[in-house]
Amino acid sequence: MPLKTPFRQYLGQLQLAGASVPPGLQDLLVSLTNTCVTLSDEVAQGALIGILGSAGTGNVQGEVQQKLDVIANDLLIAGVQSCQSLAGIASEEIEDPLPVGKGVGDYLLLFDPLDGSSNIDVNVSIGTIFSILKKPNPNAPLTTADFLQAGRTQVAAGYVVYGPQTTLAISLGEGVDLFTLDAVSGEFLLIKQGVQISESTREFAINMSNMRHWAAPVKRYVDECLAGSGGVRQKDFNMRWIASMVADVHRVLSRGGVFMYPWDQRDPKKPGKLRLMYEANPMGFLVEQAGGAVINGVDTILDLQPQGLHERVSVMLGSKEEVNLLRQYHAAT
Ligand code: AHG
Ligand code: MN
Ligand code: MN
Repeated sequence: MPLKTPFRQYLGQLQLAGASVPPGLQDLLVSLTNTCVTLSDEVAQGALIGILGSAGTGNVQGEVQQKLDVIANDLLIAGVQSCQSLAGIASEEIEDPLPVGKGVGDYLLLFDPLDGSSNIDVNVSIGTIFSILKKPNPNAPLTTADFLQAGRTQVAAGYVVYGPQTTLAISLGEGVDLFTLDAVSGEFLLIKQGVQISESTREFAINMSNMRHWAAPVKRYVDECLAGSGGVRQKDFNMRWIASMVADVHRVLSRGGVFMYPWDQRDPKKPGKLRLMYEANPMGFLVEQAGGAVINGVDTILDLQPQGLHERVSVMLGSKEEVNLLRQYHAAT
């Protein structure tokens, strides 16, 4: 498809080319991404429109909400209300699923409305992560159980990163394509099709301040990266940590690398920090579609059967060689 094809036309052309992008899914994706354009404009104005700082409230997970967490959540919910094909919404910021209209329709939408909350007030990249599932029984009343599907069943997943450019990454199950927001037309324009993550890399991403709390396989892996060309890996590694999963994963999609937010001993009963259904699964879907891998240490994340909407999971994703090594180190313990 020609570069700079607007997102709406791209969806229509995919459908014409034989991909399964029914009109109801197109409508949902266009409404969702249009809302992200509005959100991008608000993010860009920051303090000028009073959107920075804490909201003074907590969410379902006991985390302090920033004003922008609440604004993004409200905007996204309002932005998809007119989609006839959408039955319900699940969000990081709300405990139970929200029916759309009568709660009937073909699709379910899950999102992390604002990822990277700790970066909002310091003008570092943040984003929105989304996942779309089919509703198992479109005409039955909406239930939480409808959402509890393994990541592999996603019909679409993606993110929008609000950085130096506003970029949309999306997969409909046939590769990953990238779009950049054109400020003039207010539309996402195609910039790359068929993103591929290199199999090998010299770059890893992890919050090193948690090192003393990690499990032995993760510690071993990172120690070996740090040992550089004189160690068993026989190459020097670089490290990056943006603390916005969207921005870290965008870097992995762009130039390879491995991203980890593993289980650690700070709160041993928690499987991890990141949420399975609206962080790890959509990002994992993109990473696998781009030729990378995604595990919780032992298992492939997209095969996990979710037990709850807000379930947490240990995450290791990116370049295959590194993820395979992490899997091997976990299997050896
Ligand atoms: P959210 O802002 O949606 O709560 O997610 C933040 C997540 C993720 O984006 C990032 O990778 C991680 O938290 C950063 O955590 P640390 O501050 O512990 O490094
Ligand atoms: Mn997040
Ligand atoms: Mn969030």
